[in-house]
Order: sequence, then structure tokens, then C-alpha cells
Amino acid sequence: MEPREEEDLFERFKEFLGVNPALLGTLTSITLIIVCWTIKDSLRIKDIREKHVFITGCDSGFGNLLAQRLHKRGFTVIAACLTEKGSQELKACTSPSLRTVLLNVTNPKSIDNAVQYVAEETSNKGLYGLVNNAGRATPIGPTDWLDMEDFHRVLDVNLIGLIEVTLKFLPLLKKARGRVVNVASVMGRLAFGGGGYCLSKSGVESFSDSLRRDMQYFGVKVSIIEPGFFKTGVTSLDIIEKDLNRLWSRLPPDVKGSYGEKYFENYLKVQRLSMNTFCDTDISKVTNCMEHALTARYPRTRYGAGWDAKFFWLPLSYAPAAVADVMLKIILPRPLAGKRVLSKNQVDV
Ligand SMILES: NC(=O)c1ccc[n+]([C@@H]2O[C@H](COP(=O)([O-])OP(=O)(O)OC[C@H]3O[C@@H](n4cnc5c(N)ncnc54)[C@H](OP(=O)(O)O)[C@@H]3O)[C@@H](O)[C@H]2O)c1
Repeated sequence: MEPREEEDLFERFKEFLGVNPALLGTLTSITLIIVCWTIKDSLRIKDIREKHVFITGCDSGFGNLLAQRLHKRGFTVIAACLTEKGSQELKACTSPSLRTVLLNVTNPKSIDNAVQYVAEETSNKGLYGLVNNAGRATPIGPTDWLDMEDFHRVLDVNLIGLIEVTLKFLPLLKKARGRVVNVASVMGRLAFGGGGYCLSKSGVESFSDSLRRDMQYFGVKVSIIEPGFFKTGVTSLDIIEKDLNRLWSRLPPDVKGSYGEKYFENYLKVQRLSMNTFCDTDISKVTNCMEHALTARYPRTRYGAGWDAKFFWLPLSYAPAAVADVMLKIILPRPLAGKRVLSKNQVDV
């Protein structure tokens, strides 16, 4: 660029800023906020080696990967597995310093044993991190296909189990001024698919919010992870379809008739298509968020994990209900009864 042109450009820029002091102020403020937030977000804690982290549901998926990664980083990891097989497999791919313990979060005695084990392991100094990750998705399906037992099976693990584990570990967490990381879901922000799953995750959101507000005075920090869809045990099509078959086959004829035989086929097709489209295989996107919540000096309150969560499900959860309803109506199949003209004056909606 010629010197003359450069001068012109500079003059025009000065003029522009001179004419728009408000714009200049706004841009400077936004830049400053972004820079300060980025610096704050990148600060990390020290002395990882002296810190104990207890993770539930480590047999597979996010919990399993997180246990391995925190172990590699130097944390003292106590990985809770539901099964002996899960525990043996995790031990086989790590070193003896990673501890495992058997834990069924729906069994109070099992939780008590785990708390006692952690108290001994930490020499009663306190627990730095509790990651409530254990969870299940099935039974999940249209609401009138389900009974109370189906709701309990999910709520007991994902919500009641999580609350009981947290309450029983709180004294140790308060001692260490530690952290709680609760795994919720985008389905806790936008409910679709009947059953206990969305309810449980929505409950995890509100339990975590009250816990964070109550525990701030004791130095205990609480973060919520909101993953989108990832390929793991909870999104396994085999498990979901097997359970949907069970639900469909036990339906009384009148309920089945109101949906129509084609509905079930279409439901499975949509399920397969959406799982194959949305499910991300890179589960480290979720464990990165969990790691940040445990290692950042200032952990975030909420972590949206995955592109679908950040750019589709979470924005949609802020949209007016009518918009979300229409979007979901486009995606999900429609029962036979919903397609009929019910009477002369009632038309399909
Ligand atoms: N994958 C996703 O797309 C997604 C999205 C949002 C949120 N999440 C949440 O992320 C968490 C981890 O799930 P994941 O995706 O990693 O699936 P996963 O591989 O199935 O992990 C769930 C773990 O929880 C264990 N578990 C089940 N019932 C339990 C119980 N009663 N007590 C203790 N542990 C129990 C499972 O053990 P078994 O394997 O032996 O059954 C498994 O190890 C869950 O809370 C899930 O709801 C997942």
C-alpha cells in the first residue's frame, strides 16, 4: 500500500471512531470482557497429586474415560463401578494406584460402604472431587406406554441415587472445600421422549442449582455437565430397541390401536436415524468439560458438551415452547389418532 493510501485509511478510521464514540466504547468493553473471561477460565488449580476424585458409573462411557484421564494427570482416582467385570477391566488398563470400588447408587448400603472406603482412603482429610456420572436411559418412550415402575427404574438411578450419593459425601467434600460435578443432559433442558430420563436430568439441574447456592459458603463448588448425544451405553440402539419392543408388545389393544401398527415401525426408524445422525463418537468432548470443572480455578456453572448441545438443543431450550414443539413435531412420528379428522369441527393439529 502506498504511504498516501495508508494515511487516507488511517484518517478515515480516526473519523469513524470519532463519529462513533459509543461504538468504540462498546467494542472495547466487549473485547475486555472476552479477554478477562478467557484468562479467568484458563487458570488452573495446583497440587493435583494430593487430591482425591470419586467418580460413579466407571464401567463404561464418560466415567470410564474420565477415570483413566484423571489418573494419567496425577489425581488419586477412586472409580466406582457397578459390576466386578467393569472394575477388573478398568484396573487392567490403568495402574494399581487407581482404586476401584463397587457401587450401586440405588442401594443405600452400597453407598455407605463407598463413603467409608473413601473416608479411609483419604485418611479423613476430605474428598476433593465427586463426579456423579452413573446413569441409565431406558425405559424411554411415549408416556402412555409406561407404568410407574418404568419411571422409578430411571429416576432411582439418575436422580434419587445421585442425591443420596451427594448427601452422604457432603461432609467429606466440605472438609476438603471440594467440588461436585453432576452429569445432566440437554434432555434435562428440553424434555422429549417420555419416561424418567428427562425428569431425572431436569431434577439434576435443579438439585445442582440449590446445592451450589447452599454450598458456596463452605467453599464447595458445583458444576453441571449438559452433554448432547454421544455414542455410549445409554444411547445404545440395541438396548433402546429391545426395551421399546418390550413396551410395545405389552400395550393393551386400544392403546396400540390409537397409535397404529405403522407408528412403532416409524418410531424405530426415526430413533435409528436421529441416533446415527446426532451421536458423536468423540466422548472426550464431555470428559474435557468434566476435567475443566475439576481443574479450573474458577469452574463454570454449566458446560454444554458437543456441537449438537451448543448449537441446537440448548438454543432450542431457550426458544418459545411453540417453536420447540413444532421442531420436535417435525422430527418425531405421529400416532394414527393424531392424523384423523376427529369430527366435522375437530381437525388434525
Ligand atoms: N451418552 C449420551 O449421549 C449422554 C447424553 C447426556 C447425558 N448422558 C449421561 O452421562 C452419564 C454417563 O453415561 P454414558 O453416556 O457414559 O453411558 P454408559 O456408558 O452407559 O455409562 C453409564 C454408567 O452408569 C452405570 N450405572 C448404571 N446403573 C447404575 C447404578 N444403579 N449404580 C451405579 N452405576 C450405574 C453403568 O454401568 P453398566 O454399564 O454396568 O450398566 C455405566 O457404567 C449418564 O448419567 C447419562 O445419563 C449421556
